[in-house]
Amino acid sequence: MKILVVDDEEMQRDTLTGFLQKRGYDALSASGGEEALQLFNSYPVQLVLLDHNMPGMNGDELLARMKQINPFVHAIMITAYGSVDTAVKVMQLGADDFLEKPVDLVDLLAKLEKIEHLVAEEEDVSEVNDTLHVRDLPLHIIGDSPAMRRLLSSVQRIAQTPWTVLIHGETGTGKELIARLIHQLSPRSEAPFIEVNCAAVPENLFESELFGHERGAFTGATQQRKGRFELACAGSLFLDEVGELPLNLQSKLLRALQEKKISRVGSEKDLDVDVRVLVATNRDLKQLVADGRFREDLYYRLNVLDIEIPPLRDRKEDIPLLVDFFLERYSPRPIRFSPESMSNLVKFPFPGNVRELEHVIQRVVTMVRGSLVRPADLPAEMRFHKASGQGALSDQLEAVEREMILEALDKHDWVQTRAADSLGISERVLRYKMGKHTIKKS
Ligand SMILES: Nc1ncnc2c1ncn2[C@@H]1O[C@H](COP(=O)(O)OP(=O)(O)OP(=O)(O)O)[C@@H](O)[C@H]1O
Ligand SMILES: [Mg+2]
Repeated sequence: MKILVVDDEEMQRDTLTGFLQKRGYDALSASGGEEALQLFNSYPVQLVLLDHNMPGMNGDELLARMKQINPFVHAIMITAYGSVDTAVKVMQLGADDFLEKPVDLVDLLAKLEKIEHLVAEEEDVSEVNDTLHVRDLPLHIIGDSPAMRRLLSSVQRIAQTPWTVLIHGETGTGKELIARLIHQLSPRSEAPFIEVNCAAVPENLFESELFGHERGAFTGATQQRKGRFELACAGSLFLDEVGELPLNLQSKLLRALQEKKISRVGSEKDLDVDVRVLVATNRDLKQLVADGRFREDLYYRLNVLDIEIPPLRDRKEDIPLLVDFFLERYSPRPIRFSPESMSNLVKFPFPGNVRELEHVIQRVVTMVRGSLVRPADLPAEMRFHKASGQGALSDQLEAVEREMILEALDKHDWVQTRAADSLGISERVLRYKMGKHTIKKS
């Protein structure tokens, strides 16, 4: 991570820079605003450590200028003892965190590690997005919430490995989508992605479905047939709803995973298979193990890496983005949601997760008359859902906040720095709030 230290006091500057370099960070330093901006313009700095109080350009101003150059830069503000009393104030300055003088180096390290983690995650996520974009894959994954960023970051890492992955999540959270994404990001992306829905295969045909059969192996087997394992060779095999796999096949699957060998039904011959197995379930496999319905050894074999997809109600920030995405996909004409109807959606807990939201949008697109979706156009359970713990007051405050932001943006021709200034908040907070209220320039 490239770090720029800006401080007018030489001692402090040298101590911090020296400490960072000793810790293996790539640290640069500047004694004031102009010098800092010059360095910032010539090097891909990811984090700045800023003295808040400097003669000439102070820390706030300098950070604002840096954000104009790179809005994604991270910052830790170093302030005089007791001068910044709340984390909110620091947020308003657009910094990620702050440290008081004299700087406690252990504290500094802890904060650095936190930011380093964020930076690594951001890099993974942009790599995922770049891959999807560059190869123009028919896969679109929407999600900008911290939970989804974390998920995409681990997917990026997991995809590069050869291990089995267990994808867990409630119905409709996107388990299949994530399985496809893992395959697409993996070194096996050119080979097939083969899917088996374990809940949909009749029990007596299961073995043949997975491993294939020889001619005459059973009544009706008039032809030799390859199973899904063979079809997935060099690629990935996705076993959806793996909790439904019958016990007798669980041991055969275990063997295929351990020995990388299978045999077709009606044949004694072993065939080598090179397949990466991905599995998904919305059941609690551990519980199935405890109930004796799922082999424990298979469970551990499958659970080498695991991914938990959070339910939509735990990442509500993604709802407006998903709405836009589905509107674009399903609506032949431009339609938008009124603030009230969007707020109804955001409050709804979506037990059916993304799929349920997708169906709501499909329905709305066919039913709505004009170009504006109002609460009346939504299913009744969404219109009348009262989020617990959210009284009328907070709703009104939200509405007032939204109005004020819209007004400020209009007044300043949508120049966000000026609108933020006039509201007395940082641009970063403004952007966050615009996202929260789904405010976009129309
Ligand atoms: N993050 C996302 N971005 C865009 N579309 C999504 C996202 N997550 C899910 N979807 C869409 O929602 C629908 C449900 O996703 P998917 O089939 O992958 O869920 P699932 O977890 O496998 O559901 P089930 O448990 O019912 O099998 C699909 O149409 C999918 O494209
Ligand atoms: Mg599924």
